Amino acid sequence: MKYRCKVCSHIIVAADSRNEQDAEQNQAAEKKQLQTKAIDVGNRPPETKSLTKKKTINLNFAPDNPSTQSFGLRAKFNLAICVVFLCAIIMLYFLADSGLKKDAENQVSEKAHLLMTTMEQTRDFTSNVIKPALYQALPDRFIVEGMSSSFCARTIFDGIQASYPQYYFKHAAPHPRNPINQADVFEMSIIEKFSANPELKAWQGYRIQGKEKVYCIMKPIVAEKRCMRCHSEPSLAPKELLDRYEYRHGNENGFHRSVGEVIGTLTVSVPASVVVENTRNKTMLFVKIIALAFVLLVVVINFLFSKMILSPIKHLANNADDISMGRFETHIDTSGTDEIAKLAKAFNRMKVSIKMVIDHLAR
Ligand code: HEC
Repeated sequence: MKYRCKVCSHIIVAADSRNEQDAEQNQAAEKKQLQTKAIDVGNRPPETKSLTKKKTINLNFAPDNPSTQSFGLRAKFNLAICVVFLCAIIMLYFLADSGLKKDAENQVSEKAHLLMTTMEQTRDFTSNVIKPALYQALPDRFIVEGMSSSFCARTIFDGIQASYPQYYFKHAAPHPRNPINQADVFEMSIIEKFSANPELKAWQGYRIQGKEKVYCIMKPIVAEKRCMRCHSEPSLAPKELLDRYEYRHGNENGFHRSVGEVIGTLTVSVPASVVVENTRNKTMLFVKIIALAFVLLVVVINFLFSKMILSPIKHLANNADDISMGRFETHIDTSGTDEIAKLAKAFNRMKVSIKMVIDHLAR
């Protein structure tokens, strides 16, 4: 005779020598008897209790569906950990990237500011120290190597550039006296900005120069009264200047400026591509190190998880499986004090209780 357990849905096959009617008649009496003996049989359905008079009990259960084991605890655990890791690594990537970018920008900006300060100081030293001294000694002469701060600053920078070829410095001006100072389109646009907005004291940012991304600082050069001798009317300029810059051949560039006019910009730039590339490499290295650390962590966690949780649970599950099949001689290892050991002890107790009940029912 087959019964389906109302609790666990397992099929129970009972070998019966008597007919079912007798069994049903005995059922009520047996139930009463069991209650008086105070044997706790839990929620066992009445069909099971009807087996009390049987001599043999065959427990014939349907086998576990293998598909239910395909997505085990380990897979779920690893999936959860991978999802958390992916989210963490994406967040870390963006945080590290923005942090390192800021750091890189500070680096290039600092270099550009240092170069700008150097060039400004060079110009100031020429016009405040060398120029007056030369004028005093040679009032009727114009010696460009000491009397033009633009010339001195540019020549000194040529020396700097020999060591730092990617660094850039220029007195960018429209219609310059020296053609080397001709402003390019971008510099012209900034000069226009300075002219339109006298409050604007500097412009800084990235720009593409040639094929390079550079960090650039520009400051306006505003004509003053003391500049007018060489930058307003050619008739006021020293003869040596006119000769040197070919005024006689029609070159009036650098003249006809007026006081207050933005006649050019002091421009410096330092390479940023290398720093940006370094930043990207640093970010990638950082992400790789974190990923490696994560893989190691997952291996260690998996090992511990397997040893401390998965193996004991598997052992418990296998033994519980055996017991559920009626093999009551199975002994569950209950060593340890953790929750799994407690569960194992509870299983052992349950096994004894079930065996007692079944023995009793079988008698
Ligand atoms: C004694 C003459 C003299 C005086 C004064 C003078 N400059 Fe010049 N300036 C020159 C010469 C010469 C050059 C070209 C230098 C070179 O070859 O790079 C020049 C170039 C420049 C340039 C570069 C653009 C160009 O035209 O080539 C700027 C900008 C400039 N001067 C601004 C000033 C300002 C601002 C003042 C006043 C504070 C001033 N200069 C006073 C002689 C002078």
